[in-house]
Amino acid sequence: MDKPAVLDHPIHDLLRRRWSPRAFSPEPVPREALRSVLEAARWAPSASNRQPWHFIVAEKADKAGFEHMLSCLDPGNQAWCKDVPVLVLNIARTVVEGGKPNAYAFHDCGQAAALLTVQAAALGLYVHQMAGIEADRIRELYAVPADYQPVTAIAIGYVGKPEMLSDKLKARETAPRERRPQAEFVFQGRFGGKAAF
Ligand SMILES: Cc1cc2nc3c(=O)[nH]c(=O)nc-3n(C[C@H](O)[C@H](O)[C@H](O)COP(=O)(O)O)c2cc1C
Repeated sequence: MDKPAVLDHPIHDLLRRRWSPRAFSPEPVPREALRSVLEAARWAPSASNRQPWHFIVAEKADKAGFEHMLSCLDPGNQAWCKDVPVLVLNIARTVVEGGKPNAYAFHDCGQAAALLTVQAAALGLYVHQMAGIEADRIRELYAVPADYQPVTAIAIGYVGKPEMLSDKLKARETAPRERRPQAEFVFQGRFGGKAAF
């Protein structure tokens, strides 16, 4: 299913076509494509080039490894993620050298996820990021060290059909995509100031 953004101004077609499905086709993601989307994340900008992101990957073909990761999602996300071909955990290193907090760790993990998403779109893949994860369980099951924090889970695969989903999720899948208008978040002169362009 296509759900292109309804634009007020032109953007790149990859960005226009990207959206976050819950229905994923069972078709596996070629490992070469998986390497490419992770390579895009690798080349994300980050504060002081600290690259705080870390990714743990689970492929559906590895049944036990996949179930392990699935069990780290909240029940709402497990319901549709059970059928996705690839799950990834995005884990931030939250400190800098010397142990002080890295205030930009989550920001930079988000940037890496964004680039991964666009590269996926370029390969005909779709990505759905999730905050609904059990961070403590991830920490325990994957032996995540103390200075690292699970940020999101990321589903990657080819888009499926809404009919694969429960009625409730189907309704969300087919609902129009919405965004606030630029006037609500693009300012000039002062916070809240109307932009002149
Ligand atoms: C950091 C982050 C956390 C999210 N958490 C969840 C989640 O736990 N479950 C879910 O179904 N969708 C989740 N989403 C998907 C958003 O709901 C979705 O991106 C948003 O509604 C915009 O839709 P679009 O990506 O199709 O444009 C998350 C997205 C992001 C970026």
